[in-house]
Amino acid sequence: MPAPNIDTIVSLAKRRGFVFPSSEVYGGLGSAWDYGPLGVELCNNVKQSWWRWLVYERDDIEGIDSSIILNRMVWQYSGHEATFHDPLVDCRECKNRFRADKLIEDYSRSNQVDGSGDAGNRLFAERKIACPNCGERSWTDPRPFNMMLRTTLGAAADENDATALAYLRPETAQGIFINFLNVQTTLRRKIPFGIAQVGKSFRNEITPGNFILRTREFEQMEMEYFVKPDAEHLKLVDEWVGLYMEWFLTLGLNQSNLRLHEVPQTELAHYSRRTVDIMYRYFPERDEEERQWEELMGIAYRTDFDLRSHSNKPTDDEGKRINPDSTEDLSYFDEATKQRFYPHVIEPAAGVNRTVLAVLMDAYSERTNDKGETRVILKLSPQLAPIKAAILPLAKNKPEIVGMAKAIKRSLQPVLRAVYDDTGGIGKLYARQDEIGTPFCITVDHQSLEDEAVTVRDRDTWEQERINISDLAEHLQKRLKP
Ligand code: GAP
Repeated sequence: MPAPNIDTIVSLAKRRGFVFPSSEVYGGLGSAWDYGPLGVELCNNVKQSWWRWLVYERDDIEGIDSSIILNRMVWQYSGHEATFHDPLVDCRECKNRFRADKLIEDYSRSNQVDGSGDAGNRLFAERKIACPNCGERSWTDPRPFNMMLRTTLGAAADENDATALAYLRPETAQGIFINFLNVQTTLRRKIPFGIAQVGKSFRNEITPGNFILRTREFEQMEMEYFVKPDAEHLKLVDEWVGLYMEWFLTLGLNQSNLRLHEVPQTELAHYSRRTVDIMYRYFPERDEEERQWEELMGIAYRTDFDLRSHSNKPTDDEGKRINPDSTEDLSYFDEATKQRFYPHVIEPAAGVNRTVLAVLMDAYSERTNDKGETRVILKLSPQLAPIKAAILPLAKNKPEIVGMAKAIKRSLQPVLRAVYDDTGGIGKLYARQDEIGTPFCITVDHQSLEDEAVTVRDRDTWEQERINISDLAEHLQKRLKP
């Protein structure tokens, strides 16, 4: 049973130290969230799983970590300065601002009317769409709003000094493209190969919201896979879709909460010739099935657009250099065919935060104990669980038991994340660990002092077994393996 809605996860996340509203002591900051002790572990485990899967377990992918702030020209030639816009409309009555495309999408789906292109935009002038906030139908014309977050660089920089203008990256991908030759030549890579990067990205979203689903600061896990110009690009998109679907299943996501969405040609990003989104059912409470889904990640065929745009050689129809500012040619020389070309790119781009939210929603379950009390159990895949084992002394006023429990915790810590907890009765301690997804609780009791064994309790079945302390680390490691 997944979580019935995102609100259930918001409350669990705050109650148990996964995610807190940011800047709360100053009244908060809209749609900004801080990851607490358990949240940071969960995020790290998702990122590590991804990195292990792509960079370590495959032979054809390298990792990098580029700057968040890049030369402004990167964004000029990537097309983001000119086109990384969302359409914005203002309600003239309540002054709230909305994404025009989202309002059009909702209206056209509910009313079965054409919402594409100009027909969609006309819905505002024709007063068809009601403001979700005040219900009025008085709108400004939709206009483009650039989503890149601006900053200025340098001590002497004036706020309006165009020469000091810089952006916080809206995608990690460009840091990969501008390093393509560095990686390819230093690691002597032959095509096909990929470069992966995980890190923060920033977008000045018009309508952030739904907890960590859409925020202005978020983390991406992106990989650019460089292939030949004559590769079967559209098929490769399907291949990567299949691989990511499998990876999401290993994280514990339920197949029935995942589905694919072929992005229509009219909605493709400026660099994409084909994009397939993997959608997750973030809104199971909505009656209308179509409104239950939101993008978890996208897999795009970016052609050779980016490497070409950042290169100094390509020219336009009139023979003029497309990029007179670049000092490099990011083309690739294929030794086998003696041909030089700009590699084409398949890009799987996933969000860390959206993956974490999906994982939390699918892991959520409830179970009623013998006393008729309902308990929350977070059935996280063991590889993702923030804490793998909790060591609980059955009598906290008995120094020998406490000493033994703490020694077990210390002995496990080098091989897996373990905690010691004696802040409540055993029932409460079990419940707390179930709620944060700890796969195993280890209880140390009077008997342990005599037989050097402990009780291992399974989170999902609540079954208990007696294990010798000397075998404990190996026993747990075996059971934690995916
Ligand atoms: N380089 C391609 C790219 O950035 P995208 O579809 O715009 O593609 C990729 O972003 C992923 O990043 C999304 O599928 C989503 O998981 C995550 N993402 C994008 N915007 C986000 C936001 N405002 N808040 C949280 N995650 C976001």
